[in-house]
Amino acid sequence: MLVNEKILWTNNDGFTISTEKSFLDIDVIFNFLSRDAYWVKGITKELVVASIENSILCYGVYDGNPNDGPYKQVGFARVVSDLVRFSWLGDVFILPEYRGRGLSKWLMSVIIEHPKLKGTSFQLATKDAHSLYAQYGFKPLGQIENRMIRSLDWEVVYQGYKINK
Ligand SMILES: CC(C)(COP(=O)(O)OP(=O)(O)OC[C@H]1O[C@@H](n2cnc3c(N)ncnc32)[C@H](O)[C@@H]1OP(=O)(O)O)[C@@H](O)C(=O)NCCC(=O)NCCS
Repeated sequence: MLVNEKILWTNNDGFTISTEKSFLDIDVIFNFLSRDAYWVKGITKELVVASIENSILCYGVYDGNPNDGPYKQVGFARVVSDLVRFSWLGDVFILPEYRGRGLSKWLMSVIIEHPKLKGTSFQLATKDAHSLYAQYGFKPLGQIENRMIRSLDWEVVYQGYKINK
């Protein structure tokens, strides 16, 4: 479905963004999410892997170019989407030593320019990075009286994967 789409971007500082899932360093992603991500601290590796497998687009940010020599994963984001009407952005991070040099802004600009995502209604949740996402067209939810949500229930998620926690 996503064939023929661009999957690799490079910048002048030697960084790469790619949607090629085989480039992802699961340990880097798992370590950050399970230890440092306020929204999902303590998550198991199995669920991190499942969320990546089941997300239509996962973006790795790399120091170096995975197609051309050694590289290190320094950031990540993933998108759940039907590629027509609805998209959700989550698990956005840049490792601490690589922050403050515009990598998340570059990542956001790449994500929102995807030809099949750019027109969709894009949602996300954030505790404190509103001004980052606002630069890419995200606004607080309007008409919240028309919106409904069924809350995440970790106990039921773990049961679904037959994981004892
Ligand atoms: C948020 C995060 C991804 C930013 O990455 P980064 O590469 O250092 O950010 P950039 O250098 O591209 O700059 C981010 C811009 O957003 C702004 N910003 C808004 N909220 C921010 C926040 N919570 N943290 C960092 N920057 C933030 C910055 O001020 C900067 O704005 P500018 O245009 O005035 O320069 C990174 O700090 C991170 O991984 N934090 C921990 C995980 C996290 O909170 N992820 C977001 C969950 S919604």
